[in-house]
Amino acid sequence: MNAAASKPAIVAVLMERSIGIGLLGAGTVGGALVRRLVGESDAIAAKTGLTFDVRRIGVNDLERERDFEVTEGLLTDDPFEVVNYPTVALVVEVMGGKDPAGDLILAALEAGKPVVTANKELIASRGPELIAAAERAGVPLLFEAAVGGGIPIIRPLSETLAGERLDRVLGIVNGTTNYILTQMAEEGASYAAALAAAQELGYAETDPTADVSGADAAAKAAILASLAFGTWVGVEDVYAEGIEDLTAVDMSFAAEFGYVVKLVAVCERTADGVSARVHPAMIPLDHPLASIRGAMNAVFIEGVAIESLLFAGPGAGGEPTATAVLGDVIDAARETLAGAQVAPRIRFSPGDLVPFADIQTRWYVRLQVDDRPGVLAQIASGFGDAGVSIRSVWQEGVDDEAALIVVTHSAPEASQREAIASLRKIDEVIEVASVIRVLGTNP
Ligand code: HSE
Repeated sequence: MNAAASKPAIVAVLMERSIGIGLLGAGTVGGALVRRLVGESDAIAAKTGLTFDVRRIGVNDLERERDFEVTEGLLTDDPFEVVNYPTVALVVEVMGGKDPAGDLILAALEAGKPVVTANKELIASRGPELIAAAERAGVPLLFEAAVGGGIPIIRPLSETLAGERLDRVLGIVNGTTNYILTQMAEEGASYAAALAAAQELGYAETDPTADVSGADAAAKAAILASLAFGTWVGVEDVYAEGIEDLTAVDMSFAAEFGYVVKLVAVCERTADGVSARVHPAMIPLDHPLASIRGAMNAVFIEGVAIESLLFAGPGAGGEPTATAVLGDVIDAARETLAGAQVAPRIRFSPGDLVPFADIQTRWYVRLQVDDRPGVLAQIASGFGDAGVSIRSVWQEGVDDEAALIVVTHSAPEASQREAIASLRKIDEVIEVASVIRVLGTNP
């Protein structure tokens, strides 16, 4: 269908007394959204002048019990029926996953229907294609809930800060891992015990891989970097390392040295280009992100004129995420009702992506070594030969072994790795027990 030709038809449908919503997915977020659209319809109408009506909901299991009222014919297990339903004027996708969500969104946009999605995985992998389809159709594609759950961050980055030169975005964008790390740091819990507690509280899935491996945060980092710098960074361009190897011992050393360990998304623009990465990092205790505890999320933005901004709040959960989705629904309805050709909210320009090996990082390295004369000198040479300068050394001998902690100055990631590889070859090095990158402003 010609999208431009279908646009007046969508405006006409939107201008009905009540705006028809087609919902794809009725899990935690979808259910919360339906309850809010029904239960708070008067308050929403009073504030916005808009009323909404959920006309079709696409679900996997028609028989499952729902926590909202299900009227005859509301549910369907054919998601394309939702998109194509004549009085559905706006499509909300909260089903997750790349397939078939991507094709459903494209079909909705091609039919000239505005789309709101919470799907970080999809946006982080097919963002430019979907954004281009929305631009062709002249309708909004909004995804505030894709990063940071209830925290407004997509709109500030792509609209409010569109005129700002942003250099760095740091994010704690995964609540499950932040809960686990907080338990380890504050309660001295092991990784396994903290993960079990996160599962018990419903933060972590039975299979927690997407959270603990950094994959969930990597998709969010890709979106943050792309919007902040206006150069597309796909999820495949994001280096991701998880929290599985962290120990309570290192949490305690971090605290002793004035740091806290967080899983951080680091998006940067330098003279060489842009980059995004996710890995555990020691953050100085006086940095605003150090105070983000439990399942909270936060995004810290650094720019030339605004200096720094902190956005913090609940990064997941049905109700906070539904707030973000609902805000997009209202915005998309307003914009489409205004009848104008919708201007794209973000354009991507070509730019260089800096390979992770070239990124400047600082490392904390904990070693277990034989306590013998000359060992420290060999270790210092290992760093020096790789071009890595040592910032500080801490050592404590017990019997004939010593625990040794080296914190380095900034050096390319590849050089840091070369140094560690050479330390592993030293006979007196019993173990390179852990390596954690250190964030900070000092070189
Ligand atoms: N599982 C994510 C988290 C929320 O723990 O933050 C969805 O992205």
